[in-house]
Amino acid sequence: MNKRASEPALRIGVLHGPNLNRLGEREPELYGRASLPEIDLMVSEAAADLGADTLSFQSNREGELVDWIQGTTSSVDGWVVNAGAYTHTSVALRDALTGSGLPFVEIHLTNVHAREPFRRRSLLADVAIGVISGFGSSSYLLGLHALVEHLRPSR
Ligand code: DQA
Repeated sequence: MNKRASEPALRIGVLHGPNLNRLGEREPELYGRASLPEIDLMVSEAAADLGADTLSFQSNREGELVDWIQGTTSSVDGWVVNAGAYTHTSVALRDALTGSGLPFVEIHLTNVHAREPFRRRSLLADVAIGVISGFGSSSYLLGLHALVEHLRPSR
């Protein structure tokens, strides 16, 4: 429920890249035990408390993520993006996000700077409003809060 009923609800697109559909089963020691539906529910409940609605999408395919961004741009105010491995490789995803003209926060469950060197490179970070990395599923919540604050600065 929107607890800030006097203001129009913000709409946040939540994007999950490849392999994140297997959260909870995939290397749980690294990525945690929460499943993707559990994370989506947690994010949508937190968003409701902030007066925001979420639209969420996961795909293992780069083109589907690009299509979703293009098709959803007119319905949202900004993005929370965990692009998974595409963070480190995808010019197409970067172009789709910048092409949307909407602000986004790049997030990661793990601390990508404490892992293999190739994960330190992001093709999204310099066009994001910020990056949150290393806080498990809380990274999504921190990203959501940061984006909402950016879109609707508290006085
Ligand atoms: C990830 C980090 C990426 O390097 C990796 O490819 C993922 C998940 C994270 O949330 O920690 O799939 O984005």
